[in-house]
Amino acid sequence: MVKISASILAADFSDLKGEISRVLPYIDEIHLDVMDGHFVPNLTFGYPILEAVKKLTNLPVDVHLMVTNPDDHIEKFITGGASRVTVHYETCYHLHRTISRIKELGAEAFVSINPATPVNVLEEILPYVDGVLIMTVNPGFSGQKFIPTMFEKIKKLSSLRMSKGLTFKIQVDGGVGNENAVQLAQLGVDILVMGYGVFKNEQLPTLREELLK
Ligand code: DX5
Ligand code: ZN
Repeated sequence: MVKISASILAADFSDLKGEISRVLPYIDEIHLDVMDGHFVPNLTFGYPILEAVKKLTNLPVDVHLMVTNPDDHIEKFITGGASRVTVHYETCYHLHRTISRIKELGAEAFVSINPATPVNVLEEILPYVDGVLIMTVNPGFSGQKFIPTMFEKIKKLSSLRMSKGLTFKIQVDGGVGNENAVQLAQLGVDILVMGYGVFKNEQLPTLREELLK
C-alpha cells in the first residue's frame, strides 16, 4: 500500500504540535526537508527540529538532505532518530560510500535525483539502495507544480526495478496532491511525499481513502 510522508515544510510552524496531530490519522511518516541555502536556494532547519518532531510523534522520520555536504550530517540525524536518510546523487562524490554508511548506522538509505538528472546515472547504485526519491519539482520550496515529464521518468525507474529483479522503494516529492497521487501510486510509487497535499489540503481524508482502496 502506498504511504504518505508528510513534509512539515508546508505546516504552520507557530503550531507544529497542532499541525501534526491534525493530520496524524492520514499519514505514515514525517518528512524533514533539510536545506542549506547552497545546494538549494532556501534555508530550512536541522537537528533541533528533528528533536522536536520526535517528541511530538512516534511516526518514522524521513530526512531529506538538500545540502552540499551530506556526509557531515548523516550520523547526527540518525542518532537523533531518523529512520531514513535521503541524499542527492548530485551532492555525493562517493555515493556508494555514503549509502553504505547510512545503512551501517541503522537507517534506510535512499538516493534522490533532481528533475534534470536522468535515471540511468543510478544504474550502479540501485542494488545497494533501499529506495530512490524522484524529485518531481526542482528542490527548494513547498507548493510548486509537478513537472509532467516526471511521469515518464517514474515509469522508466519502475520498469528498471522490475527488469533487474530489485526491490528498492520508489518515492516521489514535489507537487503531489489530489490530482496526481492515485495515478502515481498506480505507476508503482511506494511513498508519496506531500507538503501542501497534506497540510494545505481540505480533501486529505478523501485522498487517503482513495489511496487505501
Ligand atoms: C522540495 C521539498 C519537498 C516539499 C514538498 O524541495 O523536498 O519535500 O516540501 O512540498 P509540496 O508537496 O508542497 O510540493
Ligand atoms: Zn523533500
